Amino acid sequence: MHVNLNGKVALVTGAARGIGQAIADAFLANGARVVYSDLDLATAASAAARSDNALALRLDVSAPTEIDQAIDQILHRFGRLDILVNNAGVNTLEHRVNIDQFPVAEWDRILKVDLTGVFLVSRVAARPMIRQQSGRIINIASVLGLVPMRLQSPFVAAKAGMVNLTRSMALELGPHGVLVNAIAPGSILTAGTEKLFYGAEGKFKERTAALLSHIPLARPGTPAEIAHAALFLAAPESSYITGHVLTVDGGWTAGYTRDF
Ligand SMILES: NC(=O)c1ccc[n+]([C@@H]2O[C@H](COP(=O)([O-])OP(=O)(O)OC[C@H]3O[C@@H](n4cnc5c(N)ncnc54)[C@H](O)[C@@H]3O)[C@@H](O)[C@H]2O)c1
Repeated sequence: MHVNLNGKVALVTGAARGIGQAIADAFLANGARVVYSDLDLATAASAAARSDNALALRLDVSAPTEIDQAIDQILHRFGRLDILVNNAGVNTLEHRVNIDQFPVAEWDRILKVDLTGVFLVSRVAARPMIRQQSGRIINIASVLGLVPMRLQSPFVAAKAGMVNLTRSMALELGPHGVLVNAIAPGSILTAGTEKLFYGAEGKFKERTAALLSHIPLARPGTPAEIAHAALFLAAPESSYITGHVLTVDGGWTAGYTRDF
């Protein structure tokens, strides 16, 4: 997919790997100057080192001082900020338990990044966009923010919160020319989820196969397929879309694949 992002400056959080890196790479390939930000500066820096139009920054989305500094640095370097992608996220693997057993510290850890982090970065990034009277904010939510699964209470709550936060930001920022949308990915194959999905023999694990059997397209998505959706929402042509949640899930949330 090709769109014209020439002259635009984009900040992607959690861009060192996975979906965030794919989005940052796609923006770069379509003409934007792109800030690859992450907790992991070394890996973000090696992703950004491939282009003069890319900059790597350490940015912990849960740390207000780091956010202020990062936005100041971007404005100092590029003079503007046109696109923010709130992609950084965490989930739990070791604590997949019912709510009565769910550790409070794990709830706090996930909410702090997946929901509060979106609020913290967006509030600061929105200021130059309001001054410019233009901008795009794209939140990477999840299908689990629309249709929950069991045993991941903070993740499903955070992503559902992100969906409604997207809509309320769209209401508040629309009059300033700032469009706010979300993407709700289904199961996406990244270096991180690969270990979760595949057994040693290279086949999907039983649990993954069960999950995929609920997806009409019967396969996980790729980070590039999420990046194409982000490009669409960032494109100048998408100028009348705000407050929308775009599912990119192989049909997961379209309905039941079972017959009764
Ligand atoms: N992979 C999937 O199947 C899938 C499905 C639905 C939604 N998502 C969402 O997409 C986003 C990216 O997922 P992914 O699979 O690429 O994840 P990933 O774990 O591969 O990458 C996440 C990145 O975020 C960074 N990060 C973590 N905490 C951070 C913080 N406090 N500040 C800044 N950066 C931080 C990590 O260092 C990492 O580089 C997440 O929000 C995730 O919830 C992913």
